[in-house]
Amino acid sequence: MAGISSDLRRRRWWRSTATRVLAGVATVAATATVLVTAPGADAAASTLGAAAAQSGRYFGTAIAGGRLSNSAYTTIAAREFNMVTAENEMKPDATEPNQNQFNFSAGDQIYNWAVSHGSRVRGHTLAWHAQQPGWMQNMGGSNLRNAMINHIQKVMAHYQGKLAYWDVVNEAFNEDGSRRSSNLQSTGNDWIEVAFRTARAADPSTKLCYNDYNIDNWSYGKTQGVYRMVQDFKSRGVPIDCVGLQAHFTGGSSVPGNFQQTISSFAALGVDVALTEVDVTNSNTSQYSALTQACMNVARCVGITVWGVRDSDSWRSSESPLLFDGNGNKKAAYNSVLNALNAGGTTTTPTTTPTGPTTPTTPTTPTTPTTPGGGSCTASLSAGQSWGDRYNLNVSVSGSSSWTVTMNVPSPARISSTWNVSATWPSSQVMVGTPNGSGNNFGVTIMANGNWNWPSVSCS
Ligand code: G3I
Repeated sequence: MAGISSDLRRRRWWRSTATRVLAGVATVAATATVLVTAPGADAAASTLGAAAAQSGRYFGTAIAGGRLSNSAYTTIAAREFNMVTAENEMKPDATEPNQNQFNFSAGDQIYNWAVSHGSRVRGHTLAWHAQQPGWMQNMGGSNLRNAMINHIQKVMAHYQGKLAYWDVVNEAFNEDGSRRSSNLQSTGNDWIEVAFRTARAADPSTKLCYNDYNIDNWSYGKTQGVYRMVQDFKSRGVPIDCVGLQAHFTGGSSVPGNFQQTISSFAALGVDVALTEVDVTNSNTSQYSALTQACMNVARCVGITVWGVRDSDSWRSSESPLLFDGNGNKKAAYNSVLNALNAGGTTTTPTTTPTGPTTPTTPTTPTTPTTPGGGSCTASLSAGQSWGDRYNLNVSVSGSSSWTVTMNVPSPARISSTWNVSATWPSSQVMVGTPNGSGNNFGVTIMANGNWNWPSVSCS
């Protein structure tokens, strides 16, 4: 089944086999001592990302660019998470500090760090009433409408084909389910729709999300308001692919009893659902476990992102709301989340890009160890390390020290990082590599996205 790792299959096999063995033993050898050994530690994934990947999901975190020089921080982040959101660096004030002058240095730093550690990236965020650059805050009417459109087009063009999701619009509703008043709202009630249509045209490969807080309780006015908008968009063909429930259970809020109903109700509209900014006051273990389980129980709940790595990295650090303490130690809540992920759940619908194939591809074991090159050189592939959601390939070039290797990755798999090679990207599926002075061996990490077939490769 697409999206299920060998770990999960092994555990399911073990459970069913153990049940059969025990039943047989009970009938034929009531007095004998029978030892059935439980699966070893390797039967359960030991990091959040790998545990989530067993059911086709991801487990992510918000990364702050300013902390990337802290090795305690990056060690945990690289080990545990396979989705990254820039905490502030891809927001409008960061990416367009002066009108039509873009600065992607901070966003790119996080993007490059993420993909070099085999992680995918959620873009956050394109249109929002907050964290607007000064020049935008003072705008209105058609000037602002055009500036929003231009911002979406330029930022999405920069990251074209690179991001798994974009939060196109963030926090546009009031608590009662009406639209939040803002300079964007004052440009006309259709501004959200315009933002999504602009986004689809700018990068059809990225899933487009609406993201908000306090939309966790199904009976709440704001939840219903957002639900009605998504329902309306789907009925009219406005391009929307996902809803992000920020799931900040801090500042006096907690996981509602009907949380799963909220997730499944949005999912039933035909969108992916993700928990995008999770934190919980004092990391209450039962709440962390409940929110994880609610996501695991809904096939289209595609992943969970916690809003920071250690408590000391949190925007609400005084509430100690994350999964690692300030010293980087795993907290009890970490284990409750890991256990819920490892226990399995509904396998998530394999994610495809909006314009990609709509039927899941069947994962196959890589079988092509060597692909001959097309010219005076040969590029050979060999397997490197693999995880529940991605794998490394080593590429060895022979016949020439001046080579161009073209690697074509079968959709929806993506190359998420490369090393010892100078890479260019004619498209999101094609990487062209030339020597970067590191010799004739290089490597790539490929996010399988459900398709484990190796790429085709040629050398000239
Ligand atoms: O970097 C400056 C620093 O140079 C300056 O000295 C300092 C003085 O105030 O400010 C620093 O910038 C702060 C920035 O975080 C980086 O730490 C801003 O003031 C502060 O406002 C900003 O807060 C961010 C907040 O969004 C702003 O709305 C938080 O880090 C970030 O976690 C938070 O993230 C939001 C999501 O985007 C949307 N959902 C809610 C979530 C939590 O508020």
